[in-house]
This record gives sequence, C-alpha cells and structure tokens, in this order.
Amino acid sequence: MQDIMDITFLQNRLGAEHSYGLSYLPIVGSTNEEAVRLAKSGAPAWTVVIADEQTAGRGRYLRRWESPAGLGLWFSVILRPETDFAKINLLNLAAALAIADFLELKIEECGVCREARVNLKWPNDVWINDRKICGLLLESGTENNRLKYLVIGIGMNINQTPADFHQKLGGTAVSLRIATGVEWGREEFLADFLKHFHNKILNAIRTDFREIITKYSAKMLYKNQQVCIKLMDNTVGGILQGINEFGYLLLKTETGEKEITTGDVWEVPNQENP
Ligand code: BTN
Repeated sequence: MQDIMDITFLQNRLGAEHSYGLSYLPIVGSTNEEAVRLAKSGAPAWTVVIADEQTAGRGRYLRRWESPAGLGLWFSVILRPETDFAKINLLNLAAALAIADFLELKIEECGVCREARVNLKWPNDVWINDRKICGLLLESGTENNRLKYLVIGIGMNINQTPADFHQKLGGTAVSLRIATGVEWGREEFLADFLKHFHNKILNAIRTDFREIITKYSAKMLYKNQQVCIKLMDNTVGGILQGINEFGYLLLKTETGEKEITTGDVWEVPNQENP
C-alpha cells in the first residue's frame, strides 16, 4: 500500500552506526502511549516508535492530534537522561529547538525562495510563519526526583495540502509541503532528522543546556507582545518577556513579573490592528 512507510529505506539512510532502535507500527492508537509502555518495561534510550497513522494521537491538555496515514511524521523517542526531573523544561526546549533548526536547514536546502520563517511558540510548538507545523508531547517517569525515562512525542505535518486538514485546523495548521510547495520523502526526512536530533540532544545535555536559552529565545514568537496564557485553571495576561535559565516563561503583568512553568500562550490582537 502506497501510504505505508518504507522502513528498510529509513534504516539504510540512518546507516549502520546510528543509536536508534526502531519500532514501526503501520497503525497505532498513539506512539506516545506505546513508547511509555515500552519505557516502563525497560526499553533502552533511543528506542523510537514510529507510526504511519495514529487513531488516538494525543496533544497537550488532552487535545486530539490529527495523524492521518501517509501525510505526516508521528513518532516518539525514549530518552533516559541522567538528570533531575527539573531539567525536563530544558529538555523540552532543546527538543523544540532541534526541530526548528532542522526545518530551517531543510527549507534552505530545498532552495525554494519562499518566505518561510521558523518560530517557536513556548513551550512545545514549532510554527512556520503564523501557523503550527509541529507539536511535541513529553511524558516522563521519575524515581527519587530523577528522570527514569522521558518520552518525546513529535507530530510533524509534512505532505498535507490545505484540503487535508480538518476544517477547524484550517486556519492554524500548516505542512512543510504547503510552506515550501515541495512534496517530501518522509523516510528520508525522518532518517536525517533522527541523526540531527540525536546530536543536538546529546550536546544539550553534555553542555548542561548552556546555549539553549539564548538560541530558543532568538526564535521565540510574541516576544515583547501582549499575550494571554491559559494555565490549568485560569488565564493570565501580560507582556511576554522571554524565558529564564530554567526555561520558564517570563511575563510582565500589572501586578509584577511572573514566572510561568507551563501553559498555552496566545497572542492578544492589537486593538488598532486586530
Ligand atoms: C501538541 O501540540 O499538543 C502536541 C502534539 C504531539 C503529537 C505527537 S504525534 C506522535 C506522538 N504521539 C501522540 O499521541 N502524540 C505525539
């Protein structure tokens, strides 16, 4: 069937020396769910669960993640970083940044002259211009405040056309194909991404995330703009100032500067130019 991924091609492109253990499922509920199950039963770091289609792809805040066959990349990587649980925010930002850097490289490489700017919407989204191309969902297990495992679930819209997106996503989602006008080989793209991701994550851990904050900040959406942040049980508004050394969002509110550890950031339209 045309939609099914060519995993042999992916293996060959990754090469013999790669560190990944690939687990491919043509169709699954959620690769994150499967990766968490594997992590709990002792699967090694760099096990990656890949699906052609997810029937119950999940996003943050229990949202559904559209994951149709043949059009995107839906996969989850198991990490076992020997770090405190507190480093999870920085790992999250390092992963999002690795994705943004890779998308920039690929867009540049394909040589299509389009205005496709890759941005990061704190903490988990990668956008191209004003639309979302990729989301991350991290799930972890801890022991004595240390990370026992971390699953990084990544959903990337690759070859969708506008008509492929569900109506309610139409205005907010984009694929790499829409952004570049080019159809992409998913296996080649994923193999190259996994190599890049491995290097970037190892380097971030080795250097204790020293450069992540500066690099992430440089690509951050809505800096110095009025935003609204949905927290678990309420909403807070203010000017987005950036992130601190722990990866928390800094927000200037009417009652002073706040550190936000997690939430969903939304732009507040300019009153004069809504
Ligand atoms: C979000 O933007 O809210 C996060 C979306 C994460 C989607 C990916 S697709 C692969 C992995 N499996 C899932 O069920 N979710 C993540």
